[in-house]
Amino acid sequence: MRHKGVFITFEGSEGCGKSTQSRKLLEYLTAKGVASKLIREPGGVAISEKVRALLLDKSHTAMNKECETLLYMAARAQLVEEVVIPELEKGTVLICDRFLDSTVAYQGYGCGVDIATIKSIGLFATKGIQPDMTFFLDLDTEEGLRRRGGERDRIELRSVAYHHQVRVGYLDIAKKEPGRVLVIDGRKPIEENFNTIREAVERKLRA
Ligand SMILES: Nc1ncnc2c1ncn2[C@@H]1O[C@H](COP(=O)(O)OP(=O)(O)O)[C@@H](O)[C@H]1O
Ligand SMILES: [Mg+2]
Repeated sequence: MRHKGVFITFEGSEGCGKSTQSRKLLEYLTAKGVASKLIREPGGVAISEKVRALLLDKSHTAMNKECETLLYMAARAQLVEEVVIPELEKGTVLICDRFLDSTVAYQGYGCGVDIATIKSIGLFATKGIQPDMTFFLDLDTEEGLRRRGGERDRIELRSVAYHHQVRVGYLDIAKKEPGRVLVIDGRKPIEENFNTIREAVERKLRA
């Protein structure tokens, strides 16, 4: 589905720098006078934030992978309807901290949910809206969790092997869609990575 705005997503494991870089991009674009907005997944609107709480609750150890996949999609469907579509129709540069690639990587590659099924439910949940550009900040999971510190949520508590599979998934997505996904080395300094991101976004805005 074509849209007037520009849809930019940030992906990668916890602590890789998604929030840092997406905030910097929002500040940069806002200062330039570009109509832009930052949202996060799962969440971003009231209903989706409630679904987020269900997903990250550490006591929900019994949640199966199908339930988990559908809850992520449910949160996404509501966000797409309430924010993503209206903003893109207005022409906003919409920055989203995680989107459908997260479900492919975490529930598909990580939990073994059939990827074709995820994509088909994804099409239903997003009404076919796809990011115009995606930055995958690639970082070793251990390093990411060290950076973040604090308490881990239900997903972060999963094994190193699980998180390794998620990373393999992201790299695979990037390989399959090189025109959309830019892999950024998450170990590099914040400013260096921001320059790379800023230049790529500038090119896209000029295109
Ligand atoms: N390139 C980087 N190098 C070193 N530290 C970083 C880098 N990017 C982010 N950080 C720090 O790591 C922590 C987690 O970053 P954050 O952006 O919140 O990650 P995410 O949103 O992907 O979980 C923050 O304290 C942030 O300042
Ligand atoms: Mg974050």
